[in-house]
Amino acid sequence: KKTKDQLIIDAGQKHFGATVCKSCGMIYTASNPEDEMQHVQHHHRFLEGIKYVGWKKERVVAEFWDGKIVLVLPHDPSFAIKKVEDVQELVDNELGFQQVVPKCPNKIKTFLFISDEKRVVGCLIAEPIKQAFRVLSEPAGPGSPTSTECSRAWQCSDVPEPAVCGISRIWVFRLKRRKRIARRLVDTLRNCFMFGCFLSTDEIAFSDPTPDGKLFATKL
Ligand code: ACO
Ligand code: ZN
Repeated sequence: KKTKDQLIIDAGQKHFGATVCKSCGMIYTASNPEDEMQHVQHHHRFLEGIKYVGWKKERVVAEFWDGKIVLVLPHDPSFAIKKVEDVQELVDNELGFQQVVPKCPNKIKTFLFISDEKRVVGCLIAEPIKQAFRVLSEPAGPGSPTSTECSRAWQCSDVPEPAVCGISRIWVFRLKRRKRIARRLVDTLRNCFMFGCFLSTDEIAFSDPTPDGKLFATKL
């Protein structure tokens, strides 16, 4: 959220005002010891979580000049599953999502975008679905209950439409956004979700999208 610039007096502190950490992406006030401590904690936890060492039989499903996409399936070795769980925890924390228990845990496909610095900088979790409800345009005008209550409460059609693939999570590391990482994850998903066919965007649905998620989804 953009807030109005806070008026601050530069009394000669070394660090001053809001800083964005170039490695972990956290925004904090370097002159505030409490903030700085929180940053140190988040910094280590985050970088440990997205560190990617790789494994021998990793399933590389796409390669790019700035990284690659690896697919992890439910019966993969436990270290691969552990990495997915670590990343999912970071993502859910950032999004403020409750951990959801998937309906068919053994049909989940997780795509990780690995940067050439060997970090997990993007993640997409997909599962097979049978139907979805289309989001109806923009929220109703000002004053109506849907627009004031919550930005996630867009109106949905109550007529189910057939769909094939549900995206339950899509996330890109803050400092790597708007570099087409999410789009490349979705394209790879469309290509790999069902053997031998390329899913159309109509066959894909996003579950409970955030404002960012919706902006992205409408551009697919
Ligand atoms: N505002 C406006 N348009 C956007 C935005 C945005 N924040 N994000 C993406 N787009 C549109 C643009 O048209 C963009 O193309 P452009 O950069 O050439 O204009 C196009 O979508 C493709 O964007 P990508 O670069 O592929 O998207 P990115 O890699 O930045 O990832 C994502 C988008 C995943 C939504 C990212 O912003 C993110 O991780 N946000 C926080 C987590 C989140 O909210 N995830 C969605 C949750 S919903 C769910 O998981 C089901
Ligand atoms: Zn940091």
